[in-house]
Amino acid sequence: MLRFLTAGESHGPCLTIIIEGVPAGLPLTEDSINKELGRRQKGYGRGGRMKIEQDQVRILGGVYRRPRGAIGATTGAPLALQIENRDWANWQEEGWPPLTVPRPGHADLAGALKYGGADARPILERASARETAARVAAGAVAKALLAQFEIQIGSYVVEIGGIEARITPEERLADLAARAEASELHCPDAAAAETMREWIDTMRQAGDSVGGVFVVFATGVPVGLGSHAQWDRRLDARLAAAMMSIPAIKGVEIGPAFENARRPGTQVHDEIIVAQNARGWARASNRAGGIEGGISNGEPIIVRSAMKPIPTTVAPRRSVDLASGAAAATQYQRSDVCAVPAASIVGEAMVALVLADALIEKLGGDSLAEMKAHMSAAPL
Ligand SMILES: Cc1cc2nc3c(=O)[nH]c(=O)nc-3n(C[C@H](O)[C@H](O)[C@H](O)COP(=O)(O)O)c2cc1C
Repeated sequence: MLRFLTAGESHGPCLTIIIEGVPAGLPLTEDSINKELGRRQKGYGRGGRMKIEQDQVRILGGVYRRPRGAIGATTGAPLALQIENRDWANWQEEGWPPLTVPRPGHADLAGALKYGGADARPILERASARETAARVAAGAVAKALLAQFEIQIGSYVVEIGGIEARITPEERLADLAARAEASELHCPDAAAAETMREWIDTMRQAGDSVGGVFVVFATGVPVGLGSHAQWDRRLDARLAAAMMSIPAIKGVEIGPAFENARRPGTQVHDEIIVAQNARGWARASNRAGGIEGGISNGEPIIVRSAMKPIPTTVAPRRSVDLASGAAAATQYQRSDVCAVPAASIVGEAMVALVLADALIEKLGGDSLAEMKAHMSAAPL
């Protein structure tokens, strides 16, 4: 079982990550994790924080120490990772200012009431999506493991503020991801990306914010991850829970699920056809998004997620001061206008973590070598 925990506040000294269950012998570098952290920090529409932070991970445990320059590998012990918050230096002297006027859409009101105070500051410090940097670091480790089995994860943005990217079903996922990687909006459709960028500018000028939709996919996934046998082993359920755990993600579908719901069954279910390949069969389409019966079916896994608009807006919203009980307008906290491109990178991390967990469960073994030996006996 692969599991991870994160700790740390947005304006605290650092984020801490512990990952347990990574098999021994997986080559791992800080550079490979930093590359993913850098991808999360990009994207048009981010706020000032991303100019301050240049996330760098430190591996503090779980990797065999080799001479400087040589690549270390995991030992099978828990991995301990740390990411410094550069912004901490700006907050150290004054400390955290109280926040007693909760922002609609954020964790402020429910969190302050739940944890017993009028001050939502400790709530937003932890609810802040700064925590997603820790997830991306954990996800980079999961991706390194999956890559050993030629499982690749990618993502692309398909909608921002109601502006939809035009994507034809025939396009290869790898091509879409490559075009997204070159786009500030992480969107493969350059024309749509330009309109999205203009819309973000309009929203920024209006003191408003936007949300959107992104796709995360996994290719090379073997048949047999997850199980139909128990509710909490179903791969689709595990993926949906993982995506919904990302702040501001409010909808998840596997494949084009909502569109499928509007079509007759004969136009949805992917026919199985005889083929001249190692399996002897192939699927005529992939509207199931790579999962049937809670089990990966050998097709690419496709997960679409909807992100709500960023809750913090320059334009004030009606609220109540929890300290006085009087009506009060929200006060702006430095914020993103749009974080859909960044959320898609966080989504990749969460999909990678779920698939790595399911792969370890499927193959067993304490080392990468054992896992690979078991893989050769698994169904194609
Ligand atoms: C990558 C990323 C960046 C985010 N940036 C902000 C932000 O700058 N300001 C903000 O108010 N919310 C931001 N959010 C969303 C909030 O963290 C989220 O809405 C809040 O924690 C409440 O949780 P909920 O929306 O899941 O209910 C961001 C989310 C993600 C995934």
